[in-house]
Amino acid sequence: MLCDQYYLTSPEVLVNQFNGKAPRHPLQIVYVPSHLYHMLFELFKNAMRATVENNKSSTTLPPIKVMVALGNEDLTIKISDRGSGVPLRKIDRLFSYMYSTAPKPVVQNLQTAPLAGFGYGLPISRLYAKYFQGDLNLYSMEGHGTDAVIYLKALSTDSVERLPVFNKSAWKHYKSRTEADDWCIPSSEPKNLSKFSHHI
Ligand SMILES: Nc1ncnc2c1ncn2[C@@H]1O[C@H](COP(=O)(O)OP(=O)(O)OP(=O)(O)O)[C@@H](O)[C@H]1O
Ligand SMILES: [Mg+2]
Repeated sequence: MLCDQYYLTSPEVLVNQFNGKAPRHPLQIVYVPSHLYHMLFELFKNAMRATVENNKSSTTLPPIKVMVALGNEDLTIKISDRGSGVPLRKIDRLFSYMYSTAPKPVVQNLQTAPLAGFGYGLPISRLYAKYFQGDLNLYSMEGHGTDAVIYLKALSTDSVERLPVFNKSAWKHYKSRTEADDWCIPSSEPKNLSKFSHHI
C-alpha cells in the first residue's frame, strides 16, 4: 500500500515455504508477532523501493520472492528482490543508524508513513532479530539484487532474551555468566549463552 501510494506501482510478492521438520505441514514457531511484523515490514519496504527505483525502464516489475524454511534449530525467512543490489563494500554501512539513500521524508499527515528515508529500518530490525538470539543479514549481488535473511530460533527454549552490552563491565558479565533460568525454559538447568557474547 505504501509503495503504491508513493510510486503508483508495486511489485508482486511470491511466498514459498518449506517445512524441514514435517514436510507438507504448516510452519509453526513461538515468536512475538509485533517484532516479526516490524522486521518484515522494513524489509518489504526496502525490497519494494529497490525494485521500483531500479526497474524504471522496464514495463513489468520483477517479483519479490520470499522463502520461509523451518529446520530443527532455525526458522529462516529470505526476501529476494531484483533491485540491482548493493556493492559488498557498502553493506556494513547500511546497518548504521541514520544512513539512507532516500530523500529526507516530509511527513504531511499522520495517515501515510514514508516508504523510506529515516535510515534506521535495517539497524532496528537487526536489533529485534538479535533480541531473541536470531540475526538479520543482507546478501547482495551488485547489479542484480539483494537477499535479506531473517534467522529466528525455531525452539522457544533457545529464544531467550539477549540484552545489548553498553559498557565493559557488562561485557565481562556476559562472557563469564551462565544465564539464569528463564520463564520459557522448562528445565531448571542454567543456560550457557556466553557463546553468543562475541557477536553482541
Ligand atoms: N533490498 C535493498 N536493495 C538495495 N538497497 C537497499 C536494500 N535495502 C536497503 N538498502 C539501502 O540501505 C539503506 C538503508 O536502509 P534502511 O531501511 O536502514 O533505511 P531507509 O530505507 O533509507 O529508511 P527507513 O528507516 O525509512 O527504512 C537504504 O537507503 C538503501 O540505500
Ligand atoms: Mg528502509
